[in-house]
Amino acid sequence: MGIESSCDETAAAVVRRGTETMSNVVASQIATHAPYGGVVPELASREHLRNIVPVVRTAIAEARMNLRDIDAVAVTEGPGLAGALLVGITYAKSLAFALDKPLIAVNHLEGHIHAVLLEHAVVAPDPLPLPALALVVSGGHTHLYLARRDEESWHYTNVGHTVDDAAGEAFDKVAKLLGLGYPGGPWVDALAPYGDPKTVPFSFAQIKPKAHRKETNRNDLSRRYLFSFSGIKTAVLRYVQTHELFASIETRRNALAQLPIARPADALALCDEETLNLIASFQRAVVDDLRRKTFQAAEAFGVHSLLVSGGVAANSELRARFAAEAAQRGLPIAFPSLSLSTDNAAMVAAAAWPKLLEGDFAPAELSAEPSLALGR
Ligand code: KG4
Ligand code: ZN
Repeated sequence: MGIESSCDETAAAVVRRGTETMSNVVASQIATHAPYGGVVPELASREHLRNIVPVVRTAIAEARMNLRDIDAVAVTEGPGLAGALLVGITYAKSLAFALDKPLIAVNHLEGHIHAVLLEHAVVAPDPLPLPALALVVSGGHTHLYLARRDEESWHYTNVGHTVDDAAGEAFDKVAKLLGLGYPGGPWVDALAPYGDPKTVPFSFAQIKPKAHRKETNRNDLSRRYLFSFSGIKTAVLRYVQTHELFASIETRRNALAQLPIARPADALALCDEETLNLIASFQRAVVDDLRRKTFQAAEAFGVHSLLVSGGVAANSELRARFAAEAAQRGLPIAFPSLSLSTDNAAMVAAAAWPKLLEGDFAPAELSAEPSLALGR
């Protein structure tokens, strides 16, 4: 059984042998945080407390099992919000203790990577060729990892990260600025096809850490691919200021607030051409920056496949452009299905399977690690 509570989803899932999903239950807190335009940590902890017992019970019922039938309890140790993580960890520890089953600690980022591997094992006859380059791109993270396997155990090397905001954070903040709903990614995704992505020429600074500038060796794992998404957020704000879009944004925000449930389709009629062009240009710029650096890293490290996961991996333009370039380069690429792109517990249970085989169990004093890193 996997349990996930690192941010704003309370999730539990039963996965057999790391590949067969018996149940995958997610209680979303979107409605709780939407009025604030972002996750409020205290509210998240309270909602996890409210949801954890029914979510675990539902996961067991949907798997048509009894709690005693599970082999181990896996839980997200970090990274994430301390109070939110603690709810899942405390519950998982109690459950493992009461059932006398092993407890397994899972890094949330490794979970996102295993969301892809979990499904790939079901749909494809052959495993993804390794080493792979994994882009984990979500509301809290923009990381590139080299992933390889040694017998049952997986090893990760971090070769890229954001120096400021995560890509998903930029989607959320830009959507909020433009008077769209929360979380912003799906709104921008839905509206972008109606605009011209070539209208606003956003650009990204090329950041090179000084110490690594001269390194050209393909096998030098200290090379870094750096992302930065705070600048584009400011650039969108400047555009809104110079083009005097604030009045139309407020009209849109108020009109959407009147609806019982506002959906991206409701926003389309409330967006003029200039706004749609801005949205399309923003999305194109972010996707292109992610694509360019990811494929540069894939080439530099000579990986044999690419996997992309995390909430932003649900983005349709990102999927299409990554898939096209991978096909052009003959590089196998895999994404999780949309429901496994965002936070869930099936990915936690899947990442725990190799650890169960290896007897890599968590100590009784396991606690939340809000800034837990993955790999070296
Ligand atoms: O993986 P996730 O559920 O939680 C974190 O670990 O952060 O990712 C949530 C993030 C949010 O920023 C959300 O706006 C973004 O993923 N997201 C998207 C899309 N769906 C979710 N971003 C772009 N396009 C989407 N379709
Ligand atoms: Zn996540």
